[in-house]
Amino acid sequence: MAFFFVQMADPQFGMFAFFSGLTDEEVEERRSRQLFVRKAPKKITGFADESRLYTQAIEATNRMKPAFVAMCGDMVHDPSDQSQLDELFRITDMLDDDIPIYWVSGNHDVGDAPTPESLALYRERFGPDNFSFDHDGCHFAVINSSVCSNPVNVPNEWENIVQFLKDDLSRARADGCNNIILLVHHPWFLEDADEGDGYFVIPRDRRKVILDILHEHDASAVFAGHWHRNNYAEDGKLLMVVTGAVGYPLGDDPSGLRVVKVDGAAVTHQYYAMDDLPDSIEL
Ligand SMILES: [Fe+2]
Repeated sequence: MAFFFVQMADPQFGMFAFFSGLTDEEVEERRSRQLFVRKAPKKITGFADESRLYTQAIEATNRMKPAFVAMCGDMVHDPSDQSQLDELFRITDMLDDDIPIYWVSGNHDVGDAPTPESLALYRERFGPDNFSFDHDGCHFAVINSSVCSNPVNVPNEWENIVQFLKDDLSRARADGCNNIILLVHHPWFLEDADEGDGYFVIPRDRRKVILDILHEHDASAVFAGHWHRNNYAEDGKLLMVVTGAVGYPLGDDPSGLRVVKVDGAAVTHQYYAMDDLPDSIEL
């Protein structure tokens, strides 16, 4: 049976304030690193913009009534700031009780190079970072892409992810699922599965390990965030979809969310700007 879910990424409470108050030179320096920050010369504090945007996203989701929400990481900008977390959870609580939300860990939630401590804290707050679930015959796997990005402090966690994904997808296919989708924070690649390494993608050697497992089990799509703008690429039949931010945009795409329709093995999707969110979705 066809269904749809809402994918969100990077509400990142605190990011508007973090990138405010920069001089023109500082803005240019960030842009040279592909961080296309806005000019906001006046320093602000708090997270009023993030609250407004995430509230819009949650209210529209309640109207659309998806099967679930996949929140693809960077829930807050600074995980040591309890006020950012409190605001995230206050607004999340407005989500209707019959719409589950699945948390996916981002680098701002667990660190660019996760440690045993940062992972333990994340798991306490959000639950497991590597898990899977099923909806109407479609299997969804979630893994911690920050560990895939840089496992130097937790090499065993990387080994665990590889084994988890192999076992999980084998079991899902053996159980007769009709589709496999991966939900992560980092894109595996932006243009081409063989492209070089960079801040916004998973390094090539570990990227290949994960892509090989996905291809072996005929996964149809990967949905990610992290780039704070939309991007679409393919590796054979596998779609690599990057979704713009609920919060601070780092490109031309406005803050928004994605609606993903799943009908058997077929996956279609559309990004909606926060000011143009639909009230209902036709399947
Ligand atoms: Fe982010």
